[in-house]
Amino acid sequence: MSKIVMYCVMWGLGSHLSEDGQTKFQVLASGLFKSSSDGPKGEMFDNYLSFQSGGDGSWVHFAEIVPSFQYEKELNYFQLVVPTKDTVCYEHFVKQFIEIRSHIFITGVTGTGKTIMTENTIHNMHETVLEVKMSFSSQTASKSVQIMLESKLQQQRKKGQIMLIPPPGKRMAVLIDDINMPMVETYGAQPPIELLRQLIDTSGIYDRNGLFFKEVDNYAMVGVAAPPGGGRNALTQRFTRHFSVFNVKKTSDDQLSMIFSSILRGFLKIFSFKPEIVDIEQNMVEATLSLYAKFLLNVGSRPSCCPRPTSPTTPSTCATSRRSSRACSWPSPSASPTRRS
Ligand SMILES: Nc1ncnc2c1ncn2[C@@H]1O[C@H](COP(=O)(O)OP(=O)(O)OP(=O)(O)O)[C@@H](O)[C@H]1O
Ligand SMILES: [Mg+2]
Repeated sequence: MSKIVMYCVMWGLGSHLSEDGQTKFQVLASGLFKSSSDGPKGEMFDNYLSFQSGGDGSWVHFAEIVPSFQYEKELNYFQLVVPTKDTVCYEHFVKQFIEIRSHIFITGVTGTGKTIMTENTIHNMHETVLEVKMSFSSQTASKSVQIMLESKLQQQRKKGQIMLIPPPGKRMAVLIDDINMPMVETYGAQPPIELLRQLIDTSGIYDRNGLFFKEVDNYAMVGVAAPPGGGRNALTQRFTRHFSVFNVKKTSDDQLSMIFSSILRGFLKIFSFKPEIVDIEQNMVEATLSLYAKFLLNVGSRPSCCPRPTSPTTPSTCATSRRSSRACSWPSPSASPTRRS
C-alpha cells in the first residue's frame, strides 16, 4: 500500500474519532498496513506525510517539528501559546485546509486549546490570509454575521454578477469560535448557521436590501466548538457535512506542566528574577496542578449553598490552571525581596 493511501486512510477516516476511538482505529489500520514496510513509525496519529523532499513523501513525527517557546513580553498573558506536539499537529492541518480553501472543524472537550491554537495559526498566516474572526453566542443573529463578512470583502462586478472577494493576493479564513452556540429556534433552525450553510452550499449570499445574489469566492471556513451540552447545540448534518472534522486530544498532565513551566520560566527570566526564584518555578507549577487536582476531588463535598458544577461548565484543567499560574506572574521583580540589581 502506498504511503499516500495510508495517510489518507489514517487522517481521512480517523481524525474525527475520540482518543479511545483513535486507539481502536490504530489497531485496525495497522492490520491493513502490515503488508507494507512504509507505514508511519510509533503512534499513527503523531505523524503526517511531508512532500518537501519530493518523491512519494516521508513520514514526519509532529514532535520533531515543535519549535522552542519564546516568551514575548509585549503579548497579553492569554495570547502566549506554548507549542506542543498537539498544537503543531492541528496547526499543520488548519494551515493545509486554508491553503486549499477547504473547510475544517476543530472539536474536542473544553479547555484543550482549540481557540488559542486556531487563532494563532490564522494570525501567523496574515501575509497571505485575510482573517475574519467571529465568536458565536446564543444571541448571535444571522444579519450581524453577514454584515461582518461583507465588511471585510471587496465588491466587484464580473459579467453582470456581483462578487465579494478578499483583497488581491489574499484568501479569506473565516474563523468561527463556539460555532454551535446559536439558539435553536422553534422549527429547529439556527439562523447564523443557515446563513453559513447557504454560503457554502451556493458559494454566495443574498443582498438583504436588493435581494440579488452575491458570489463569495476564495475562502475557507474554520469552525471551532466543544461537543454539544451546556448551551452548545448539535449542528445539523447538512452543515457539518461540508467540513473535515478533527478531534483535539485532552491535554496530558505532562503537557500541562510543560506549558505552564515554559510560560512561568520565560516570565521570571525576562524580568530578571533572582535564580533562587527561577529555580522554584517547576515547584510552583506542580503545586498549582496538584492543588487543582485536589480541588476537583473535593468538588463532591462542596457546601450545600454551592451548586455542583455540571461537566460542561466544570472549569477545564488547562483554563483554570492557567489562571492560577497567571497569578504567579503578577508580581513585578521590584515586589520580590530578592530582586537582582
Ligand atoms: N499550548 C498552549 N499554550 C498556552 N496556553 C494554552 C495552550 N493550550 C491551552 N492553553 C490555555 O488553556 C486555556 C483554554 O484554552 P482555549 O480557550 O483555547 O480552550 P478551548 O478548547 O477553546 O476551550 P472551550 O471549548 O471551552 O472554548 C486558555 O487559557 C489557553 O490560553
Ligand atoms: Mg474555545
